[in-house]
Amino acid sequence: MMGRLRPRTVGTRMTKSLLSKMQTRIETITEESLAEAKRIILEGGVVGMPTETVYGLGGNALDDAAVQKIFAVKGRPADNPLIAHVHRDYDLSRLIDYDPPYAKALREAFLPGPLTLVYPSTGKVSRYVSCGLNTLAIRVPAHAGAQAFLKEVDLPIAAPSANLSKHVSPTSAGHVYDDFNGKIALILDGGECMGGIESTVCDITGEVPVILRPGLITKEMIAKVVGACEVYTPQLQSGEKVKSPGVLYKHYAPRCRTRLFSASALDEAVEYAKECERKGERVAFLCDSGIGKKILCPATVLDLGGTPEEMAASLYARLREAEKICDRLILIEPTDRTEKMVGVLNRLHKACASVDVPH
Ligand code: TXA
Ligand code: MG
Repeated sequence: MMGRLRPRTVGTRMTKSLLSKMQTRIETITEESLAEAKRIILEGGVVGMPTETVYGLGGNALDDAAVQKIFAVKGRPADNPLIAHVHRDYDLSRLIDYDPPYAKALREAFLPGPLTLVYPSTGKVSRYVSCGLNTLAIRVPAHAGAQAFLKEVDLPIAAPSANLSKHVSPTSAGHVYDDFNGKIALILDGGECMGGIESTVCDITGEVPVILRPGLITKEMIAKVVGACEVYTPQLQSGEKVKSPGVLYKHYAPRCRTRLFSASALDEAVEYAKECERKGERVAFLCDSGIGKKILCPATVLDLGGTPEEMAASLYARLREAEKICDRLILIEPTDRTEKMVGVLNRLHKACASVDVPH
């Protein structure tokens, strides 16, 4: 979005009485900004940090107060655990109780990268990170800026996506600024995220890996390395305790009304757009490039691109763009149903859910 046009220091001029509002600075990643980030982290503060998937809101995973601050700043439900981010050379035995036999192959195949592994935990990190679960989700991000930051702090960094709870995840420093201006001191600017949707979360505490949240590392890719992979779907009716509380919450929602249509119902969607416009709503469509070409009505068309990678990389930026320009966003499901689309479709459906529902 407009992040790159903003000055490095972005603060509002305020009267002295209002100065308790923190100044939020966006800094490119340099020795100086990394040292500043480290200082904030050691003081128990939180920092906006880039990763190859989405930006994170990072704090010291060993520090109770810092982890609680993350929950408070983000408005995150207290039962939704956080991922601990570590440098590629971090000694995992400090954090995990047991390393399943197939885990090494997964790490070698995909890390650093957009795969979060859920291990049995030693309980060394703050108890607030895993919200009382006896497991710990660990991620080794591939983004060079994230690696530099993790090396500098030499700590496990608890970091959820750097968006206000339920809002669309951030894929640029400008998005983080839009949600947290005045609430955090520093955002490390590592450019636009290449991946665009959050990491695949995979539970490796059992005999077979189980995907808790789909992402760009697919079930098929994991099964190819390990021999098998399952996908978790919560059985809420049975009263079973949910394995990954995050799956229960509404997520990724733009601040405009949304309605999802399948690609086969395009004519119906266009009629619906006209009806909304007649009622005075500003309407926009969000769809893949192929479908976009077929929409013959004056409403704005936000283009997701053509490939699964393009759609993943652009989805959140387009959703954030949509909430600024329209009252009603009409999403058309992409026709591509290949394995890489599972994560993109999951986020698209969640963005349109009107209530907290499991997916
Ligand atoms: O790509 C990503 O994963 C980004 C970047 C910043 O690394 N992070 C991210 O964090 O998406 P967050 O907090 O928005 O989502 C973490 C997900 C949630 O669905 C949470 O429930 C799940 O991971 N999770 C965390 N710890 C878990 C655990 N111990 N067991 C099961 N699920 C866990
Ligand atoms: Mg999130």
